[in-house]
Parts: sequence; C-alpha cells; structure tokens
Amino acid sequence: MDQNHKQDEHGDLFAGFSTAYKSFATEAIHVGQEPEQWKSMAVVPPISLSTTFKQLGPGNHAGFEYSRSGNPTRNCLEKAVAALDGGKYCIAVASGLAATVTITHMLKVGDGIVCMDDVYGGTNRYFQRIAVEFGLEVCFVDCTKPAELKAALKANTKLLWIETPTNPTMKVVDIEACSEVAHEYNKDIVVVVDNTFMSAYFQRPLALGADICMYSATKYMNGHSDVVMGLASMNRDDLYERLKFLQNALGCVPSPFDCFLCNRGLKTLHLRMERHFKNAMAAAKFLEADSRVERVIFPGLPSHPQHDVMKRQCTGCPGMITFYIKGQLEHASAFLSNLKLFAIAESLGGYESLAEHPALMTHASVPEKERVVLGISDTLIRLSVGLEDEVDIIEDLEQALSAAHPKKK
Ligand SMILES: Cc1ncc(COP(=O)(O)O)c(C=O)c1O
Repeated sequence: MDQNHKQDEHGDLFAGFSTAYKSFATEAIHVGQEPEQWKSMAVVPPISLSTTFKQLGPGNHAGFEYSRSGNPTRNCLEKAVAALDGGKYCIAVASGLAATVTITHMLKVGDGIVCMDDVYGGTNRYFQRIAVEFGLEVCFVDCTKPAELKAALKANTKLLWIETPTNPTMKVVDIEACSEVAHEYNKDIVVVVDNTFMSAYFQRPLALGADICMYSATKYMNGHSDVVMGLASMNRDDLYERLKFLQNALGCVPSPFDCFLCNRGLKTLHLRMERHFKNAMAAAKFLEADSRVERVIFPGLPSHPQHDVMKRQCTGCPGMITFYIKGQLEHASAFLSNLKLFAIAESLGGYESLAEHPALMTHASVPEKERVVLGISDTLIRLSVGLEDEVDIIEDLEQALSAAHPKKK
C-alpha cells in the first residue's frame, strides 16, 4: 500500500525498486515515543538534561543512573531508530565517526578489518592512520566484486566495512552477496554497513544479512544540518551488549538536545527522502543530457553500473549525485563558485542543496595516489540535492554550467 501511495504521488519514480517497508511512517512517529512513559504524559518526548537520576536506595534506580550510561531522551531516539532499521537495538553516539570508533573498539590487537575501497574520507583516515597504530590490520577492496572480497578475507578478519552507495563515486555494493561471502568464510566476521547515504527509509542492511547498520545521523537521519550524531543498529544480543558497554566506557555520547532534534527529524524522514529522490532524479536527468557534462553517476539512472542491484536492495535513491564536468579544475571551480541556490559546503542530507569538490574538500585526506585510482579527480563534483523546488534547482545548475563553460560567440 505504501508503494502504491508513492507511485500515485510520484509517477513511475519508484518503479522497479523494492517495496517500501511496512508501516515505516507510523513507526517513525510512534515507536519509543509513548506518552505513558512520562508522568506528565507528554506526547513529544521531553529533553532530559539532568546528568544524574535519584535512586530510591543504593543501586535501586528507575532505569537511569548517570546520563552517559543512559538518558531518557536518547532512549526514545534509540528505540525509534532500531524499529526503522528492522533491528532490536540501537546505540546513539556523538558523531558518525564516533560510531566507527566505537564499533572498531570491539577488535583486539592483531585483528583485521576489510574495508570497501571507496569510503568516506574520515573513515579511510581513521582506519589507515589511527586503527593501524593500535595494532589493527586494514586492507581495502572493491566490494562491488564479491570475488575480490573473498580473496581478501583472512583468518584474523573480524570486521567487514561496507559503504553503499560509496562516497563520493556512488559505487553500489550488493550487501546480501558480500554478507554471505563474509559469513560463509567465518560466521563471526561482523559485517557493518554505513547506511548514511540511504537512511533507514531507503535501505535496510540488517534484513540483507549485515550485523550492524551504522549512520552519520548528521546527514539524512536528522536531515536539518543542525546535529552531529552517529547511530548503530543491530539484532544480535552479544553485539548490543558489547556496544552498549563501549558507548558508556568510551563515553562518546550525544547530548540530550541533539537526541531530541534527531528524534524529531525522523518524524519526516519518509517525506523528505521521497522528495530528495524526486529532485535528484530530475537534476541527474538534466545533467546527463547536458553536453558540458562528461558523466553523471546517480544510481537511479539506468546508466549507473549497479542500477539493478540498487533497485533490488533499496526502496528508492537519496539526493546524492556525482558528476564529472568537462574540462579541468578551473571549470569545476567556476561551476561551484557560480552556484546561487546550492551552497558550497561539506556534508549532505539536509533539506538544503549543497555542492562540493571531493578532491579539495571532503576527500582531501585520502592520499592522492588512492584518489586517482578511485576516480576522485579535479573535475568531480558532488551534489546533495535538497528539498527546494525542482525548477529552481535545475535553473541553478544550468546557470552555473553556463558560467563554467561560456558559449562561444
Ligand atoms: C558516509 C559517511 N560516513 C560517516 C561519516 C562521518 O560522520 P560524522 O561527520 O557525523 O562524524 C560521514 C560524514 O560525512 C559520511 O559521509
């Protein structure tokens, strides 16, 4: 029924994609938000700023002791996200990277991490420049080729880190196939999917065989570019126990106010994502048809190499588009500098349209040699298409392209 509703509203935008998750909007609005949990019967969960909670006697408390180990507002958010990911549990932490760090702390010296080759620059930097200093072994493989993944697994591999679609070259990884390869090799390998680009509305990694679904909630999950936060959902009791322990023991917790905001953001996630998809599809089609553009990478277009995988494992596409402008760095710079509606800024997934230059901005920390291999060139531009009116988005792209490539007189 959800799917039909979407198709009615958006024409054939969702045609061929996996069916929308049942009761998603209802769960986003109600799970973990029950008024009965508060004496006041507040319909909107209050922001619990208290750092400590009164005990009736020593060790006799009502579920909360100290705000790092547990907080009522954080609880509401964690319950909602667990439901939206089709999971049993979720932990909220202070940033997406804090989620990566917290998850990686499950490993011990000598353990191995196999990571998708094209990941967020900060994930790459953490694994290569910090995790290895603590005695972990890290290798990068192209997980769009499960045979390459299989060859990279070793007896000490404890973690498989997948990002899909990847940031910024939008490679789509078959989560089910990769989880199967990893778990067949060793059922104890923890498969993590960074679901930041998709949000819970468009992709459910836990249902596809992953053990942990993590997010930079700074992006679509919060959706308003006013919170830095990380989330990790799971079904396995043992993983939750360990991560809950680490959430408290490492202490990377988010503030109750940020939890309140992110929880509020979830209430409109389904509406926002559908609009992001609609606007991004229009922008991607426009760019693909323009002679000043070399190549557009948008998984919603049939020209995307893994368009079929995307349709099979996702319920739609987010607002992320990557494209190569014709020319050199100066053309990319001119395009970006002339945008009026899109702001040149890092980050993504907010209601506002953003544009950036990965080689000079988000992925500057990735070694140049690796950037070349990955295709993060001087002419690559990443767009996070927002929720503005479609015509205004296209008009802005058109005028910036014209500024970068003035018509010859
Ligand atoms: C795909 C992805 N994962 C993780 C992160 C890190 O998240 P945060 O900035 O919230 O620490 C980002 C940030 O841009 C990202 O894009």
